Amino acid sequence: MGDPLRSEEVPLRDGRKVVLRPARMGDAESTLRNVNRVGREEIYIMMEEVPGIEVERAWLSAFDGIRNVLFVGVAGSEVIGAADCHGGTFPKDRHVGGIGIAIQDGWRGVGLGRRMMVRLLEWMRARGFSKAELAVFATNERAIRLYESLGFTREGIRRRHVRIRGEYVDEILMGLWLGPETTSAAP
Ligand SMILES: CC(C)(COP(=O)(O)OP(=O)(O)OC[C@H]1O[C@@H](n2cnc3c(N)ncnc32)[C@H](O)[C@@H]1OP(=O)(O)O)[C@@H](O)C(=O)NCCC(=O)NCCS
Repeated sequence: MGDPLRSEEVPLRDGRKVVLRPARMGDAESTLRNVNRVGREEIYIMMEEVPGIEVERAWLSAFDGIRNVLFVGVAGSEVIGAADCHGGTFPKDRHVGGIGIAIQDGWRGVGLGRRMMVRLLEWMRARGFSKAELAVFATNERAIRLYESLGFTREGIRRRHVRIRGEYVDEILMGLWLGPETTSAAP
């Protein structure tokens, strides 16, 4: 444990090692390559292409480590995975943080996603968030299995919400209550 914004070398299941740390402005070209590689696959994330380095720099500059954070997995000097959390901006949803994650092909299925999600949740708890939320395409079984194994539950389905390679696909909304325990606000 320790500082949730620490830099740490983490071992993967196949023997490779990745440094897990908060992103820096100097990572922009590498985070851009990462998101665009995953985006071009079309089947996992909403974004298909970030149009250029200035857009990526503007996105990176918004992470303050207080209400928003971006963690990156770095192999050598290249970002091969990124996971972000954006805190709600309204008084009514400030307790909620929305999560996104994208790991490149070639680095999946060896434990990095779990490591990155655990670190995000550690940061969220340290920052006092009460709830994590995310949206995942119903076809993304690997991601759903990861989120459920971390305690996320299905809170809703947006039917035929995305169109992937000509097919309509549901989007599943998932949430994880981080506490404190409280009574329901339902009437
Ligand atoms: C989804 C994603 C974050 C998962 O991260 P990962 O590093 O590949 O997954 P991990 O190796 O940490 O495995 C986590 C869990 O996922 C599941 N999993 C892993 N590989 C899997 C596979 N090939 N098939 C099904 N489930 C799988 C297992 O439940 C695994 O649990 P375990 O740690 O007990 O074995 C990553 O694959 C990714 O970024 N994919 C592309 C982009 C994407 O889908 N983003 C999420 C959009 S909502």
